[in-house]
Amino acid sequence: MTKQVYDDYFFDEPAWNTHDGGYVPLEESTAPQQKLRVPAILEPDKETDTDMYYTVIAEEGETQLLPGPKTKTWGYNGALLGKTIVFKRGKKIHITLKNDLHELTTFHWHGLNVPGPYIDGGCHAPVYPGESSDIEFVCDQPAATLWLHAHPCPSTAQQVWHGLATPVVVTDDVEAKLPLPRNYGVDDFPIVLQDRNFHEDNQWNYQADYDPDGVQGKTAMINGTINPYIDVTTQRVRLRVLDGANRREFRLHFNDGLEFAQVASDGGIMPKPVYFKKVMITCAERDEFIVNFEGYHDGDEVALMSDDVPLVRFRIHSFAKDDTKLSERLIDDPELPVTPGTDVRHVVMSGMDEEVAIDGKKFEMQRIDARQKVGDVVVWDITNTNDMVGGMIHPFHIHGTQFLVVSRNGHAPYANEHGWKDTVSVNPDEHVQIKVRFEYTGVYMYHCHIIEHEDGGMMAQIESFDPEHPKTYKLMDMDTLMNAFAKENNVDPKDLWLGGMESYDKMGMKM
Ligand code: C2O
Ligand code: CU
Ligand code: CU
Repeated sequence: MTKQVYDDYFFDEPAWNTHDGGYVPLEESTAPQQKLRVPAILEPDKETDTDMYYTVIAEEGETQLLPGPKTKTWGYNGALLGKTIVFKRGKKIHITLKNDLHELTTFHWHGLNVPGPYIDGGCHAPVYPGESSDIEFVCDQPAATLWLHAHPCPSTAQQVWHGLATPVVVTDDVEAKLPLPRNYGVDDFPIVLQDRNFHEDNQWNYQADYDPDGVQGKTAMINGTINPYIDVTTQRVRLRVLDGANRREFRLHFNDGLEFAQVASDGGIMPKPVYFKKVMITCAERDEFIVNFEGYHDGDEVALMSDDVPLVRFRIHSFAKDDTKLSERLIDDPELPVTPGTDVRHVVMSGMDEEVAIDGKKFEMQRIDARQKVGDVVVWDITNTNDMVGGMIHPFHIHGTQFLVVSRNGHAPYANEHGWKDTVSVNPDEHVQIKVRFEYTGVYMYHCHIIEHEDGGMMAQIESFDPEHPKTYKLMDMDTLMNAFAKENNVDPKDLWLGGMESYDKMGMKM
């Protein structure tokens, strides 16, 4: 059987971000090349055979990103982005969430299968400055690359822009047996793709760059590094790529057309490796790639690009020969049989700019938009009706679960969509069907992951309920959060500026 190698970005070209009115093309920075920052692994406070204990601190600091003044940045257990947090499947995880910022935040575990809404960490679980809160849950899902990010509505985008986003890695025995590189920082790297604009004195200015269709910057930032390179010392390298940008899509390819294999998607290892020369990743998605540098020699350099701009350079050094081959099949096909008698749930994403909505409505924190019985497997049919001027691609995300993609407009999903996903991008005029199950009860958000769209109201929430044990939830209200933000930032509530508010104001609505 000949191996199929995809040389296609799959998504509809007229809907790529390059066609946005406000598109900001990436430009190669003139800053000197620097070694890629590899976040340290967060040390547990304590670990036993059954439990892991962590403290995660949101903090403010500064980072030398460019020559000259340092940039004010935020991060988890560090000044920018954060340390990589590792959970072992099967363990009970205890985390103290501490807020050392000057304003409230929340700690959202994107991709983690946990009860909502408080452990999940969306807008209903604020931690105020100087305070902390404790969560615990059992980690019971396949090995995967997930992430932690701030989620205080409607300021998620701004806090992520400041730097509150960090990789989370789940490990398990299945992945551990596969012939994949996993020597962290040597042949296994998180690659967090973001973009920023640098203003006076090398500072970021979210408000100055604000765009209701998603804030972009012209400079690529990878793991908080501008113009990074990696020293390649092994033949095979694993890249755990996260699109951690607020809005930007990355069209990944190597400058010389080097082929690479994708072995995992958002929720873990895919049933089969898929080979690419080009792949597009949209906001919040994770793709794990194995790159084989077999044909290169000491002194060579090859670059991972997005469109025509280098993101990461790979400086090849001598390495030992590695004959490991990826098998044709990595894991069994994941299964999720639809629960008989359940109806298809329709979700419509519409609009752009301030008009974005889900099912014609803007997000309301205290409104539960849908309900689904815990444990049921239900088909969701997600439409993107936004076809104005070519339309745009909306990355649709659900909290607290990993789903399976069934079809795109009735056809097979893309080649790399056969594994667990928590974010799926929908083209204009397309309807994507997915199979969704919640393993825990709770209230969960679902939304477009262009973060300004989510803050602007392209978000809704669903209750996963157990008819035998009905629950009520204390849902946060917007006034409480807004008044707190105003107070913490020493402004009158009426002078408070948060990006997402503009979308509500311009539509003449209250949040
Ligand atoms: Cu990345 Cu509401 O989540
Ligand atoms: Cu999420
Ligand atoms: Cu969107």
